[in-house]
Amino acid sequence: MDDFAIYLQGVTKRFGALTAVENMDLGIGHGEFFSLLGPSGCGKTTTLRMIAGFEEPTEGAIFLDGVDVAKLPPFRRNVNTVFQNYALFPHLNVEKNVAFGLKRKKLPKDEIERRVTDALRMVELEDRRRYKPSQLSGGMQQRVALARALVNLPSVLLLDEPLGALDLKLRRQMQLELKHIHRDVGITFIYVTHDQEEALTMSDRIAVMNAGRVEQVGAPEDLYEHPRTRFVAGFIGISNFIEGRVQRHGNMGLVSFGDGQRVFVPLPPEGSLGDYVELAVRPEKIRLHEMGEEVPEGYCLLRGTVRDVVYLGMTTQYKIDVPALSRQFTVLEQNVEVASDQTLWVPGERTQLAWHPSHNRVLPTGGSPSAQEEDAA
Ligand SMILES: Nc1ncnc2c1ncn2[C@@H]1O[C@H](COP(=O)(O)OP(=O)(O)OP(=O)(O)O)[C@@H](O)[C@H]1O
Ligand SMILES: [Mg+2]
Repeated sequence: MDDFAIYLQGVTKRFGALTAVENMDLGIGHGEFFSLLGPSGCGKTTTLRMIAGFEEPTEGAIFLDGVDVAKLPPFRRNVNTVFQNYALFPHLNVEKNVAFGLKRKKLPKDEIERRVTDALRMVELEDRRRYKPSQLSGGMQQRVALARALVNLPSVLLLDEPLGALDLKLRRQMQLELKHIHRDVGITFIYVTHDQEEALTMSDRIAVMNAGRVEQVGAPEDLYEHPRTRFVAGFIGISNFIEGRVQRHGNMGLVSFGDGQRVFVPLPPEGSLGDYVELAVRPEKIRLHEMGEEVPEGYCLLRGTVRDVVYLGMTTQYKIDVPALSRQFTVLEQNVEVASDQTLWVPGERTQLAWHPSHNRVLPTGGSPSAQEEDAA
């Protein structure tokens, strides 16, 4: 654990009967941009507050640079937090807001001056040092809040939904700026968000949390292409879920839905033959074929009726009723040649859904056909 900037070992936090964080094991590397991603109430803020020292774990230990910090109060930890509601002092100008903490620590004047200037340079606000918060845009105010944390030269910066208050356009811009700042300062960032797109855009690695537990940790493309649980498959992007019993079909596993409809499970199947399996396939991996059209041998095939067509510019999103599964599938097609020979499907049309079996992601089900429905569609 010495190799990690932060290491959480079996960390559990209970508030009375409620378990906010359950048995969390997590190692975050030096200089990593690491995100905690999950729905409201899953324990993200609680986890950050324990790292910062505002909250004590009920069980387990937290190590910063290999040192157990259980006994260290917040101000002794080399960690700084930027909260969602960054309260700047309205009556103080930018540089005084940034200098505030250093003045309270009674640092020498010239050191304060130097560190404030450095921090303002990092967030590119040197030319606004005499402005009051009310004279700045939302994104600039957010950058002042960031400078106020960076000025303390923390080895770890904790960011709790810091862009939550900004509109979408500014948010996107600040996401890129934050990434640049992270690269420039080279410190560890732990970033909390419930927005999967934001986490995918910014992070080196992401921990996906659900109801106090970490479901999966991985790089963005890893989580998207290889989700290991139904929750992750549904929370990161959109997934179509398929369940059924596996039969042997040559050297493949096969789930058959009658009338030639089939889903191949690539070997080695994680479920054994005769077992119930659950798998996920992404909307952009599926192609739509005319009813009479031959679908390549060895491809997965289902049939359905187009219900909804949403033209999205670059792509068209289809919602398709698949009677064999009593479920609606989402399919995304690139609008490659809409203007010429490619015609959009229209609601009511029957269609064949086909995809290569390598796109199927077998999920662990706990072996129960009554596994909870959590469809993201
Ligand atoms: N001080 C507290 N006392 C009692 N319960 C708490 C306390 N702080 C958090 N909780 C509970 O712990 C759970 C996790 O809360 P937490 O704030 O960590 O969620 P979150 O993932 O940050 O959610 P959000 O995305 O809405 O900010 C929630 O059920 C919350 O009600
Ligand atoms: Mg929170």
